[in-house]
Amino acid sequence: MSRSLIRITDLSVKEIDELIETANDIIANPAKYAEICHGKKLATLFFEPSTRTRLSFEAAMYELGGYVLSVSEGQSSSAAKGESVADTARTVSCYADIIAMRHPKEGAPLVAAQHATVPVINAGDGGHNHPTQTLTDLLTISREKGKLDGLTIGVCGDLKFGRTVHSLIEAMSRYPGVRFMLISPEELKLPSYVKKDIIQRKRIEYKQTTDLEGVMPALDVLYMTRVQRERFLSEEEYLRLKDSYILTPEKMRWAKEDMIVMHPLPRVNEISVAVDDDPRACYFRQALNGKYIRMALILKMLKEDGKL
Ligand code: NCD
Repeated sequence: MSRSLIRITDLSVKEIDELIETANDIIANPAKYAEICHGKKLATLFFEPSTRTRLSFEAAMYELGGYVLSVSEGQSSSAAKGESVADTARTVSCYADIIAMRHPKEGAPLVAAQHATVPVINAGDGGHNHPTQTLTDLLTISREKGKLDGLTIGVCGDLKFGRTVHSLIEAMSRYPGVRFMLISPEELKLPSYVKKDIIQRKRIEYKQTTDLEGVMPALDVLYMTRVQRERFLSEEEYLRLKDSYILTPEKMRWAKEDMIVMHPLPRVNEISVAVDDDPRACYFRQALNGKYIRMALILKMLKEDGKL
C-alpha cells in the first residue's frame, strides 16, 4: 500500500521541517522544479466546494511539469450513480499517480487510501481534518514569524466544525512552548477529541474564552475561521452565530505590532476588508504558500512511491 496523508501526524516533525525547507527552495528557485514531474498525473477528486485547495493542488502539479485529472463536482462523477469511495479510489489509481480527495464524510479519504494503489492526500474530510491546509499554515507561520515554537496562537470562530483548526492544533501541539487561546461562542467550542486528547493530554497551556478583544494583546498569531454553514443542522442557529466575531481595524489596535492574522479562506464576514491593508494581515500570502507546500508534498509522496 502506498503511503498516504490523512491527518497531519502521519508526518513527523522532521518531515514537516523538510517540506518547509523544500517549499522555501521552490520559492527561491522555481525553474529547478519546472520539469521534475514530467509525465506524472495528479487526480483531484473534490466532492465538496473548493477554490484554493483544488486550484493550488492543480497549479502545484502544473508548475512541477505534471498533468492533472479533475473531478470538481460529485454530481459529475460516478459517485452520483452510487459508486463507493473504495471503488472510485481503486479505479482512479489506474489513471493517476497520486490522488487528492475532498469529501463531506469524515473518514472518506482514509477509506480511499485503503483501496487505492497510489498515495492519497486528504484535502479535507467533513468537519474532521485538513492536513494540507495545516502544512500551508505552518509554512506561513514559519516564514512570517521565523519559528514555530514558543508562540501564543489564538484560534477564533467555529472551533467545533472547523477542520483547519483541528489539524492546526494537532500540528502546533508538537512544538515546544506553544500556548492556545480558544476563542469561540459557547455553541462552537472545540470538540473534546481535540481539547482533551491533544491539548490537555499533552499538558499544553490554553485558555478558553468568548472574548476576542480580551486576549488579543497576548497573541502572536490570530487564526480566524468562517462559521461552517454547511455543517449546521439548523439554518436558524447558523444565522444566530455567523457574525459572532468580526475583526476590524479598531480591534487590530489591541494586537501586538508583529502579530499576524491568518485565515484559511474563504472569508464571509469575519474579517473586515479594511483589515486587508494592514501588513499583519497575511491570509493572501498564506493562500499563495498553499501552492508551494503542495508542490513540496507532491514531490515527496511521488518520490516515496517510487514514481520519481
Ligand atoms: C477551509 C476548508 O475547506 O476547510 N478552506 C480551505 O481549504 N482553504 C476553510 C473553510 O472552508 O472555511
